[in-house]
Amino acid sequence: MKLLSVNGSPHKEKGNTYTIVKAFLRGAKKQGAEIIDEIFLQDKKIGYCLGCFMCWIKTPGRCIQKDDMREILHKVLEADVLLLSTPVYIDGVSAQTKTFIDRLIPVLRAHFTLVNGHCRHKMGEKKMPALFVISSSGFLEMDNFEPMIESLKRGCLNLYMEYKGHLLRPGAHFMRLKEKYASEIDVVLKAAEKAGEELVKYGNVSPETAEKVSFPFCSKEEFITETNRLWDLFIQSTSKK
Ligand SMILES: Cc1cc2nc3c(=O)[nH]c(=O)nc-3n(C[C@H](O)[C@H](O)[C@H](O)COP(=O)(O)O)c2cc1C
Repeated sequence: MKLLSVNGSPHKEKGNTYTIVKAFLRGAKKQGAEIIDEIFLQDKKIGYCLGCFMCWIKTPGRCIQKDDMREILHKVLEADVLLLSTPVYIDGVSAQTKTFIDRLIPVLRAHFTLVNGHCRHKMGEKKMPALFVISSSGFLEMDNFEPMIESLKRGCLNLYMEYKGHLLRPGAHFMRLKEKYASEIDVVLKAAEKAGEELVKYGNVSPETAEKVSFPFCSKEEFITETNRLWDLFIQSTSKK
């Protein structure tokens, strides 16, 4: 399986989301996945989609913008699975991630067709990879991921991508409390690694494994108290600088 990892967090490999991605990729590699590349969108020059439709009218398949998305799109089309990871930003994906998704439209064609009774663009001659999503959030409730996941699933229908599933880590800043929640963090990271193995071995991740990545480490009351303590520490240390 050829896997392309695209991360849309401004914190890149230091971010909460990447803690899960890292373990997942370890598992995928164990099962022989070929990691085409690990792309951090924050490092790339990718312009917003201009909405000019030149990628459908004048140069089908190619955007007029000469930026890093040209090379990235080649890599996307080379992959069997696109591992897209993003923090939740106001109930959606990060801006970096959304810009990347919008810039995938050169794979489509201008004309419309009916797909399962729904109006869609026709697909170009290339095949899109399947999508697997990893996300992390600040809040603890799983419903915080719902609008984003729904939007990504709908995007898959537009872009002719198979939606392969997701790993979601709520209250993800707790992944940094390595001493206090050592055993909980261990469960999450082991499950994320297993998920990577499962995806390569079976083509999907079992609900049991995905659930282990998402479980709450503590009660909501403890979560709020601990989070506020962390904010106080952060505010104090920053004001001293
Ligand atoms: C602009 C912004 C918007 C955010 N919006 C949400 C949100 O709607 N829901 C939520 O649970 N967390 C939200 N968060 C918190 C992040 O999702 C969370 O801290 C995440 O783990 C960050 O991942 P990263 O370190 O990989 O960037 C937001 C953070 C920022 C900076």
